[in-house]
Amino acid sequence: MGVSAPAIAAHKVRDGHDPLVMVTAYDAPGARVASEAGADIILVGDSVAMVVLGYDDTLQVTVDDMVHHTAAVARAKPDCHIVGDLPWMSYHVSPEETVRNAAQLMRAGAHSIKLEGGRKRLPMIEKIVDAEMPVMGHIGLTPQSVHAMGGFKVQGKQAEQARKLIQAAKSLEHAGCYAVVLEGVPVRVAEAVTAAVNIPTIGIGAGMHCDGQVLVYHDLLGIEDRFVPKFVRRYADLKGTMVEAVKAYADDVRSGAFPSHDEAYHMADDEADELLGLYGSE
Ligand code: KIV
Repeated sequence: MGVSAPAIAAHKVRDGHDPLVMVTAYDAPGARVASEAGADIILVGDSVAMVVLGYDDTLQVTVDDMVHHTAAVARAKPDCHIVGDLPWMSYHVSPEETVRNAAQLMRAGAHSIKLEGGRKRLPMIEKIVDAEMPVMGHIGLTPQSVHAMGGFKVQGKQAEQARKLIQAAKSLEHAGCYAVVLEGVPVRVAEAVTAAVNIPTIGIGAGMHCDGQVLVYHDLLGIEDRFVPKFVRRYADLKGTMVEAVKAYADDVRSGAFPSHDEAYHMADDEADELLGLYGSE
């Protein structure tokens, strides 16, 4: 299971802890990679919509989609804390519906739940926490609000907006969140939020002063190369490597170089002779 939600809650850099390492994963191979690489937390994010399922935003995935991917990650038994991401409209209708949807992710193998939004979401967060499920908050650029925000835009650039983000983080902490993701906010804002709360902040596009960082698996590995946001550091060019590998396979198939004698199954010579006797060589 890796690190527990209460242990994560106590993980502030100002108290001498190393920054938390969170990475998304959506399937068993990705979970094994994250685990063997020593990530603390796997987020089964609704970003699966964009980087795996081919949608233009995250609004298209359902609770069933998220259950499917959370279960795949959990089956790999990674040595990481697994966070299941509640998709759009799964926590907007009522606290009761929210808690039932959160429970589905927990039953699929999540160790905690993440949802987007500030004060508006407090009743839902309280209900989930009340049902013994740890909750990670997510404020700043919340991709499920893409239409309300008028695009994927950095949030909190004005002092008043930034003050509201600090207040939102405090209320999430007060409601029982064990950590909060800060996405797409200026460095100074992330620094102020991190100083204002006693739970860890995990940044994405939020600079270097957070208590941890998260990146999307396909971005950091260079599998997704259509659009690379400013805050992404690409640690590999796996898309390039994969295209080259499939090209080499295609060349080998077309030239007859694949498969070789060693890459095929063979029968004993006497059986082969008998077969020839039965059907001839034609
Ligand atoms: O779904 C996701 O990948 C996320 C991260 C960007 C934090 O919510």
